[in-house]
Parts: sequence; C-alpha cells; structure tokens
Amino acid sequence: ASGGWVMEKRSTIKNDSFTDKEDSESSLASGSLSIIVLGASGDLAKKKTFPALFNLYRQGFLPPSEVHIFGYARSKMTDDELKDRIRGYLSPSKNATPEVSKDVSNFLDLVKYVSGSYDSDEGFQLLDKEIYKYEYEMNRLEGMSRRLFYLALPPSVYPSVCRMIKLNCMNKSDNGGWTRIIVEKPFGKDLESAEQLSSQIGELFNESQIYRIDHYLGKELVQNMLVMRFANRFFLPLWNRDNIDNVQIVFREDFGTEGRGGYFDQYGIIRDIIQNHLLQVLQAVNLIKDEEVVLGQYEGYKDDPMVPQTSNTPTFATVILRIHNERWEGVPFILKAGKALNSRKAEIRVQFKDVPGDIFKCEKQGRNEFVMRLQPSEAIYMKLTVKQPGLEMSTVQSELDLSYKQRYQGVVIPEAYERLILDTIRGDQQHFVRRDELKAAWEIFTPLLHRIDRGSLKSLPYKAGTRGPAEADALLEKADGVEE
Ligand code: NDP
Ligand code: BG6
Repeated sequence: ASGGWVMEKRSTIKNDSFTDKEDSESSLASGSLSIIVLGASGDLAKKKTFPALFNLYRQGFLPPSEVHIFGYARSKMTDDELKDRIRGYLSPSKNATPEVSKDVSNFLDLVKYVSGSYDSDEGFQLLDKEIYKYEYEMNRLEGMSRRLFYLALPPSVYPSVCRMIKLNCMNKSDNGGWTRIIVEKPFGKDLESAEQLSSQIGELFNESQIYRIDHYLGKELVQNMLVMRFANRFFLPLWNRDNIDNVQIVFREDFGTEGRGGYFDQYGIIRDIIQNHLLQVLQAVNLIKDEEVVLGQYEGYKDDPMVPQTSNTPTFATVILRIHNERWEGVPFILKAGKALNSRKAEIRVQFKDVPGDIFKCEKQGRNEFVMRLQPSEAIYMKLTVKQPGLEMSTVQSELDLSYKQRYQGVVIPEAYERLILDTIRGDQQHFVRRDELKAAWEIFTPLLHRIDRGSLKSLPYKAGTRGPAEADALLEKADGVEE
C-alpha cells in the first residue's frame, strides 16, 4: 500500500522541485546561507538540532565562508552564554580530543544569538537586521542569500512565528536565493487542528518552502525500504496477501517521558509516535475498531508534576490497521509503540504464511520472517528454515543476516536530523511530510483519538521495564494467524 504512495510522492516532488525556479537553482546555490534555530534555548535544539548542524559542519557541508547560524528565543542570553551551552552538549566529556574541541570552537564562531518574543515584530526585525548584516558582508560580490528557519518550538507558536518571518525576515536578495522553514511534529492534535495549522502556514508559505520533519524518514533503514522493495526481484511475487501473514511495526523505548511529561500528557503515544513515525501506509485503511486496540500507561508516569493524577493518556498502544485493497485485504498491520518498556528497539517484521503442505512441518522451528531493524544496530535479516548441519536430516531456524556494523565496517551512518537538514538546504522534499499525506495520516487516527480523549477507551496500567499490558499480547494472538 505504501509503495504507490511513496513512488507517487517521490515523482511529484521531483517534478515540482525541478520546475520551480527557486528549487531548480537550489542545487547550484552559493553565497550566504543563514540557518536560524528558533527555540534555541530548548530541548530539541540541544539534543538534535545543534549536534546535527555541528556534524554537517565537520563534514564540510556548512562551509564557514557561506554559513552563519543564528539562535533565537525569548530567554535572555549573550552570544557567549549560548555558545557555552552548545559547547557543553557538543563536547560534554572532559576527554574530548583536541581536534573535536577545536572543531567545536570553530563551529561556535559561526553562531550568534538574538533574543526576542515569538509574536512581536520587534524581535524579528532585530533578527532580520542581524541576518542582513552578515549577508551583506558575505555578498559584496554577486551571490544569493538563503535563509533556513528551523522551528524548534512548541506547535502553539508556529502560526505567529511564521507570520513574523513572512512580515520581517524573508530573503531579500535580487539574485534568486530562498526562504525555507522546517517545522517539527506534532503537526496538530487531530484532523481539524492539523488542517487549521496547515492552512494558516499555507497562507504564508508555498508547499515548496515548508519542510515538515518526521525524523524517522531520515533514518538509514527507513530510506532503504524503497530501494529494498523496488530494486529486488525476489520481493516482487511475494509482497501480497497470498504470502504475507502480518506486518508488525514496533517502537519500544526503555525509558519514560523524562522531563517531557507536560508535553506528552497533551499528546500521548499515538500522536507522539504512531500517527507519524510508524505510519507510512496511508491509503485504503479501514476505520480502527476499539476491539483491535490496547492502550496502556506505565506505573509512575503520573509522578511527573506536569501530569495530572486523573490522566488517561496512553504511554503504550497496540493498534491493528486493516487495509482494504486487492494486495493487503486480510493482512493485519500491527503498530506497537511504548515508553518505559523492557528494551529500546524500532523494527519492522514481515511474517510470511506457512508453506502449504510443508513436509517438514512437524519439526519446523518457526515461519519465514523478513526483519528490518532501524535501531539499535541497523540490520536487515531474513529468518528461514535450513538443514541442521551434521549427519542427521533435521531442520533449524537460521538467518540470512545483513548487520550493518559487520558488513559496512568503518561507515558512519548519519543521524536522521543531519540528513534532513542537508536535504532542506538542497531543496529535496522527498523525505518530508507533504500536506495531503499529513491529512491522510490524521484521518486514520482522529476518530480513535477522540474516543480516547472522551475516556471511552481506558489505558491499562503496566509496570515500567516490562513488555507492556498482557492484553496487547492477547490481541496479537487473536489477529489472524500472528505468531509472536
Ligand atoms: P521545548 O519545550 O524545550 O521548547 C523550545 C523552546 O521554546 C523553549 O526553550 C522556550 O524558549 C520556548 N517555549 C517553550 N514553551 C513555550 C510556550 N508555551 N510559548 C512560547 N515559547 C515556548 O520544546 P522541545 O525543544 O522539546 O521541542 C520543540 C519542538 O520539537 C516541539 O514541536 C516538539 O514536539 C518537537 N520535538 C521534540 C523532540 C525532543 O526530543 N525534544 C523530539 C521530536 C520533536 P524561550 O522561553 O527561551 O523562548
Ligand atoms: C520523538 C518523540 O519524535 O521521537 C519522542 O517525540 C521519542 O517521544 C523520539 O523519544 C524517538 O526518537 P529516536 O530517534 O530516539 O528513536
């Protein structure tokens, strides 16, 4: 189901981007590039945005002759205070090598901080002045200016920030150039609020200027899915309801909400993980039935002072999606995600049906399975039954194993955020969430989310550090023919 969608998205985006003057020039772009991190004082900026920018800088993608980085937030800080913070999380260990420390210092030379609010012209005019000052220095010769605004901010301020950028901070170069904005998930809370947000931002920026990040789309193995599925002959006849019994898309974390309880309680695991990171199968999904959902909440979740004692917000969910089309009718797509479980893992498991009339059935160890493990330790492997080596004619379950660490020794797999920021600079929207895709994703989950918000579905308690509620395993057993 995802194949057609992805290919269609890929080709439309490619076509759009290469007929759009602004984008067609982006691959040739030179001149100044200003990267503005709005919400520079926050958690995402600290954990993901600045580290990704630093790694891109170290690899030569952000040349100091072209690039300047601005942090913007309400917090009052000097340039040096922001730099000290960034230094603290880029080289936290006192044992950082002199080479890394030097790179960090050189990177920080590119950083400037501007303080201002998110809804008044004053701060954004000051920001614009600072950007322009630097662009002017860089662009004495002919060039073009590129402005990339990264909204590392709560979604509640996206509309006002976008308005302020549009009014005060657009690229002013006469020689081409561009202004692009990156927005973080969650894009809305349900279909209606997402559509409202999309139209508010859509009135200010074209779709080709908006980059909606779902960082799972930047993960190595997620990007590999398209290649694997369409560049390999042997998947061709197998990829359908005749051969596949079920597909499991699993996200587990072995820690809880840790300081993000206030945010998380407003959203819950379905909005935080399932509606976006686990969902790329959008078309032809039937309405989700309550009996095909198990929700959980780990004990201790409400210890966070930001979480109300009455909270029913799920920190765990198993949801079965049923796809009504010729290829997938009858094959359950099982989405599982949970916080504070017994392991940290994200993987996709495609379980095949049994061999008809299998002559080895009595001694068989398990069914064929094709697994893509996104993290930890990227791997693709296929479980199959082979003869047990030795004199006896018996069988054993084994694997054809492509573990990246062994196969690609010495290759550093880039962080998702690095890849996606670079894509934005290059004007490649292929791995971002398009507006219609976002709408389709919300259409699938909104009725269920509203039932949960009204309290008609309850989250079952589970102990932190376990597999989650036992009812979730029971649900899997009930879904046609699924083996755990
Ligand atoms: P934070 O809560 O840390 O907020 C970022 C900054 O925004 C803060 O430093 C603060 O800066 C400002 N801010 C916070 N609350 C408000 C408010 N109510 N009104 C106006 N400004 C506010 O958020 P994160 O950095 O955690 O997340 C940013 C975005 O990224 C969110 O959309 C989040 O969902 C998303 N995201 C976050 C992830 C993470 O791991 N943290 C992972 C994936 C997505 P100041 O007061 O200085 O202006
Ligand atoms: C974020 C969620 O989008 O993804 C977090 O908001 C979650 O709750 C995180 O922890 C997981 O990302 P990763 O890349 O560490 O698996």
